[in-house]
Amino acid sequence: MSTSLPDVISEGVDPARVPVRRLASGATMPAIGLGTFGSDRNPPEAIANAVRGAAAVGYRHFDCASVYGNEDAIGPAFEDIIAGGVPREELWITSKVWNDRHHEIAASCEQSLADLRLDYLDLFLVHWPFPNYHPPGCDVDARSPDAKPYIHEAFMRTWRQMEALVDRGIVRHIGTSNVTIPKLKLILHDARTRPAVNEMELHPHFQQPALFDYVRAQGIAPVGYCPIGSPHRPERDRTPDDTSPIQDPVILDIAARHGVHPALVCLKWAVQRGQTPIPFSTNPRNFLANLRAVTEDPLSADEMTEIAGIDRNCRLIKGQVFLWKEGQTWEDLWDVTGEVTPP
Ligand SMILES: NC(=O)c1ccc[n+]([C@@H]2O[C@H](COP(=O)([O-])OP(=O)(O)OC[C@H]3O[C@@H](n4cnc5c(N)ncnc54)[C@H](OP(=O)(O)O)[C@@H]3O)[C@@H](O)[C@H]2O)c1
Repeated sequence: MSTSLPDVISEGVDPARVPVRRLASGATMPAIGLGTFGSDRNPPEAIANAVRGAAAVGYRHFDCASVYGNEDAIGPAFEDIIAGGVPREELWITSKVWNDRHHEIAASCEQSLADLRLDYLDLFLVHWPFPNYHPPGCDVDARSPDAKPYIHEAFMRTWRQMEALVDRGIVRHIGTSNVTIPKLKLILHDARTRPAVNEMELHPHFQQPALFDYVRAQGIAPVGYCPIGSPHRPERDRTPDDTSPIQDPVILDIAARHGVHPALVCLKWAVQRGQTPIPFSTNPRNFLANLRAVTEDPLSADEMTEIAGIDRNCRLIKGQVFLWKEGQTWEDLWDVTGEVTPP
């Protein structure tokens, strides 16, 4: 059941109590953020209101992207939040360049800044490592005739433009998203400015232990998307074999022990494990509960071990639309052989 903001605002969390991640730069990033992808079902204004409400109850970290189609609605929310007394330096705002603009990074970033009504971004990510355009909301069977594989030299041309944004001071940190260990090794070898963050799918049924450990060993902070298993993701992002972490008996059992919704167990696990979850919600009761969950009543070491044991290697966001030639399967996008999949 949806609850209005005035009902929950008095239960808000002091932002100083929210755990933070210290990045290689020395900057701190709140260890939980609000996602802003509306999954084709939440209009921009609803998400802008969720951003306002989330800031009012103590969120300081927001995960945006140009492709979510709502940055121009969220911008006025950030203006209100700052005008209402939250210093800009207390906010951590991420945006991402979409795949059709890898060749014009500065223009994409400037557009996001204008839409979000900001002077700088805390973090700017290359949303996917494939420069493939497909229309937002298209079916998983859709293929772009211009689709390209990961070509490292092309990616580095994009990355040089990302580095230039840091030099200009309009972006404080840059990062990757949806990369694999083989791709990240190449990027780290050639980067002048290293990625501060890698955004990746992470939930109890998709723990990605090898990538998670590699990223952290490289001093890169893992940010976890779909932390609850994205229960309302678009139909096009569902396959019959998908599993749901919030229906897992182990999660349900731990949730019952703590007297909370299973979503909150996923978030406690995420923050205690060392990643930064970015759960989406437009429901004030839910987004407040998500923030509170990571500031109180932690999971025990035994519970953390129990959850480590339920990984199903179940990737929900498979990226089929990025496939670049006939006869491929989505696994080809994720370099499962340990090498970058050849063109
Ligand atoms: N880098 C990338 O390629 C990438 C890919 C996917 C997503 N993302 C980012 O990650 C964010 C999160 O992923 P997501 O939105 O797909 O999935 P998610 O956060 O795992 O799930 C969001 C869903 O869970 C529900 N929910 C949230 N809190 C709840 C609670 N306490 N109890 C019950 N239900 C709850 C929400 O419904 P209500 O609104 O009803 O609460 C919402 O529909 C996105 O919004 C986006 O910012 C990035």
